[in-house]
Parts: sequence; structure tokens; C-alpha cells
Amino acid sequence: MKKPIIEFQNVYKSFGSQTVLADMSLQIQEGELFTLLGGSGTGKTVLLKHVLGLIKPDRGKISVLSHAVSEMTEKELLPFRTKVGMVFQNAALFNSLTVYDNIAFPLRELHLYKTEEEVQQVVMKNARLLGLEKYMEKMPSELSGGMLKRVALTRSMCLNSRIVLYDEPTSGLDPILAHQVDEIIYTTNKKFSKTTVVVTHDLESALNLADRIGVLYKGKLIFCGSPDKLKASEHPYIQKFLQNRQCSAYIDND
Ligand SMILES: Nc1ncnc2c1ncn2[C@@H]1O[C@H](COP(=O)(O)OP(=O)(O)OP(=O)(O)O)[C@@H](O)[C@H]1O
Ligand SMILES: [Mg+2]
Repeated sequence: MKKPIIEFQNVYKSFGSQTVLADMSLQIQEGELFTLLGGSGTGKTVLLKHVLGLIKPDRGKISVLSHAVSEMTEKELLPFRTKVGMVFQNAALFNSLTVYDNIAFPLRELHLYKTEEEVQQVVMKNARLLGLEKYMEKMPSELSGGMLKRVALTRSMCLNSRIVLYDEPTSGLDPILAHQVDEIIYTTNKKFSKTTVVVTHDLESALNLADRIGVLYKGKLIFCGSPDKLKASEHPYIQKFLQNRQCSAYIDND
């Protein structure tokens, strides 16, 4: 069997007295589109940050692209992070840069292209896909939440990373745009075999997009499998959220 591209082995993480991940194990294969579902505050963002080495586990091992991320120093992590793109939940843009410069920033910083003309071509091609071409000279403070999200998505699409992590890519978008973003994520995954991890509350979107779905609950993956298997699951928590069509904090607190 092929070695997984992302692997969590018995990972524990607490903040003070709060346990977020407890003996969490997960394997994601190269090229897979993996969707992670879970109620608010269950640790989905914390899990993604472990993949990038932005958060270190208290115990357990994390391996990404054959790197032992949990054991790497900050200096070793910097070049590693260029291979993993992440679209953060809050967009994480630079407020002092225009939309264009925000999108171009990693391309320039990492010297991915020789000329500014090439950078411009890549930026504009991806900006057009998300309908942002008219907003390139705006500042982030002039944009709506959904537009900021699209800027962050465009920025990640410009990178040729082998893995891309999306934290709630469609939250705050209207249904038509959310559908377009789902299509782009799906197409990029299938066309370029980019390993993709999408964190979402949106069950419908997870069922449509994913090769496999993981459900995070009380620090562990209580389910990991195909959309069809999820629909047939008899786990009481999963049955509840299949009825509600979304993971909610209310269900979590049961
Ligand atoms: N750096 C931190 N320091 C202390 N506590 C943290 C830190 N990061 C996350 N937490 C806590 O860990 C828990 C899980 O947070 P996380 O952001 O991963 O939730 P989530 O599943 O992404 O929720 P949401 O769906 O609302 O985004 C929360 O209770 C949060 O307060
Ligand atoms: Mg989150």
C-alpha cells in the first residue's frame, strides 16, 4: 500500500485543561479530496494547523510529504510550508496591500516566476475564475467578507503546492458563489491530482465533493469513509446531523 501523504498517529493536543485532540489518527492518500466535518470548536482548524506545523502536538506523530512535521524546527518548516497551501478561515490577508499584491505576495516571496509579467498572468487568470478582476486595486478593508474569502482562495490557487488545505472555504458566500467555489476545488483536485483537505460545516457540499469524509467529535475521528458510507452510518451523532443537514454546536453538546 502507498504511503499516505498526510498521517496523524495517536495525536493529543490540549490548551490548558481543554483537550481538543485525543488519540487522533488519520491517513490521507496522495490526490485524495478529503472533507473534514465537525461542530464548531471541535478542533478542525487546530487539526489543519498541525499539518502546517503551526501548532505542535503534545504527543503523537504527524507526517506530511514524508516530513516528520511534529519534530521539525521553525527554520526547517519554512521551506516545507511552500509545498502546502492553506486558505485560512479568516482569509488572513495583509491589510496594507491591495488585492493584487496580496495574491501576488507568495509568488514574489517564493520567487516562483522569473518575471513580473508571468506573475501578473497567473494572478489575473485565477482572479478571473473567481470574478475578482475588477477589484485588483482595492484594499481588503473595502471588500465584503465573501470577497475577502475569494481573494484568499485565488492566492492559494496561484501556488503550485501538492497539498491544499481549505478552512471553511464557502462560509459567508451566497449559494451560487459557494457552488462555484466547490466546483473550483473539485476541478483543481481532479485535474492536477492535488491532495485536498476541506474543512466545512456544510454536509451537502461534503457529500457532493469528497472522496472520503472524516467526522471529528470529542477529539477523535468517529467516522472516516465514503459519502455513501456516511449516509448509511448508524452512529447516533452522525444520524443526528444527517437529519439536521449540518454539524452544530448544539448537537456537540449532547
Ligand atoms: N491557540 C489556542 N489557544 C488556546 N485555545 C485554542 C487555541 N486554538 C484553538 N483553541 C481552542 O481549541 C478549540 C478548537 O478550536 P478550533 O478553532 O480548531 O475549532 P473549529 O472546529 O475550527 O471551530 P469552528 O467551526 O468554529 O471554526 C476551541 O475551543 C478553541 O477555543
Ligand atoms: Mg475553525
